[in-house]
Parts: sequence; C-alpha cells; structure tokens
Amino acid sequence: MAWIVKDSANTQIERRDEPYLDEAMKAELEKTIIPRYPTRRAATLPVLHAIQHKHNWVPYQAIEEAAEFLGLSPSEVLDTATFYEEFFLRPKGRYLVQVCQSISCELLGHTKLLDRIRDKLGIEPGQTTPDGRFTLMTVECLGSCGTAPCALVEGRLHEDLTEADVDRVLDELK
Ligand code: FES
Repeated sequence: MAWIVKDSANTQIERRDEPYLDEAMKAELEKTIIPRYPTRRAATLPVLHAIQHKHNWVPYQAIEEAAEFLGLSPSEVLDTATFYEEFFLRPKGRYLVQVCQSISCELLGHTKLLDRIRDKLGIEPGQTTPDGRFTLMTVECLGSCGTAPCALVEGRLHEDLTEADVDRVLDELK
C-alpha cells in the first residue's frame, strides 16, 4: 500500500526458498479465477487478494511470482498493489485497526480516538505493535458518516465510538 512503500532501484527483495504462490495456489487460481476474466492481466487483483488472504500480506517475492503467473512485469503488479490501500507490502499485525479521518469523523472526535489508540498500543498510524498483534492505520471515509466517529477493526465497523468503546474493543482482542 502506498503509505508503506519506498520505491528504490536499490530495494533488496527478501527471498525464501518456498514460493508464496505455490503450485497448489496456481492450480486453484487457474481453475477458479483465471476463467472468469478476459485476460490474465485482468485477474491481477484477485490473484493479489489470494496471496494476501493466504499469507496476511504481499511480499515482494510474491509480486514477482504473481507477475510470472499473469504474464506481466513485476513493476506492473507492484503498481497495482501499491494503488490500493488494502494490500500490505509489509507484514501486518494479527488485528488491523483502521480509524476514519475524513471530515465527519474528524468533526466528531476522531483525534481523541486516535490518541487513545496510540496510547494503548504505543504505535503511530502505519505501525505494527512489536508483538505483531495490532496494525494501526488511518483511512478515508468509511461510508458511515451519520454514525461518526467510526473505525474498522478486523473489517468490522464500529460506530459512534467513544474512548471507552475503544478501550473495550481493543481489550477484547488483547
Ligand atoms: S467521514 Fe468517517 S465514515 Fe464518513
């Protein structure tokens, strides 16, 4: 995702022997995903989703493997992966906390919520706790302005949030 990518010609790609996009995944994608699209390129997003679903993030090595699978260049797949906020190019925490920072939530106190989460987790937006449990992000409008301030925690929308709600939700996950 854009906020964590540092593009550089000198980027070192960490590699492991075992592929992220292994033969079983490729076979499954060939059977269930590729036939649904007019070209292999058009299947880039579902292939990236499949990788992230399995590994919880999208390593650079997996970008290269996806590119080979799709018949694209790695930079084309990287362009796609960095365009969308939902793809993580660094390992993310077990629990993803996304706090809306758009206008309605801002007017109704998102800063207080964010400060509370910062204090509780000891991290800034874009960071993951050292124990790997929580990743904190700020995001744009979650489409629930009427019940601002809002946050998504592991994909679940929490509305009309107070600091006490934040404590409760995070404590339940701890
Ligand atoms: S501004 Fe936060 S949900 Fe719309």
